[in-house]
Amino acid sequence: MSNRTLVIAKPDAVERGLVGEIIRRFEQKQLHLDAVELRLLTREVAEAHYAEHQGKGFFTDLIDFITRSPVVLMVVSGPDAQPVVRRMMGTTNPAEAAAGTIRGDFAIETTENLVHGSDSSESAESEIARFFPELAAK
Ligand code: RTP
Ligand code: MG
Repeated sequence: MSNRTLVIAKPDAVERGLVGEIIRRFEQKQLHLDAVELRLLTREVAEAHYAEHQGKGFFTDLIDFITRSPVVLMVVSGPDAQPVVRRMMGTTNPAEAAAGTIRGDFAIETTENLVHGSDSSESAESEIARFFPELAAK
């Protein structure tokens, strides 16, 4: 199933009051919100979510950041939702992200880049199953 993806409005987005702006952009694009929930991530869940980065120099900073205050978890659906959301987010380093993207318009340094989006349809399904088990594909 490639028509849905997992989005996280990261702690900086919640702290800065940018969750509404982020959701507005997805809705304006005609993507649909299947689920939205404010949640404080445990270190265990955050480390599982970012397991691919374990051992990298930025890993501890990343886990400290993503667990420091609540995030807004979302399941977003629509045609090609996974790649569409990634394009709307902009590149990982906000200083290089294009104007018109969420990171390009509202962030400037790499750790605090406001949003996460699944990087493939396979990771979308496994991330949806991790955060919203009730929505997991049967
Ligand atoms: P995300 O997983 O959060 O959607 O971000 P992404 O795919 O664009 O980037 P990724 O390479 O998966 O990195 C995950 C998050 O780790 C932080 N990061 N910091 N200081 C650094 O060099 C560095 N590199 C990555 C960012 O918060 C990035 O979004
Ligand atoms: Mg990533």
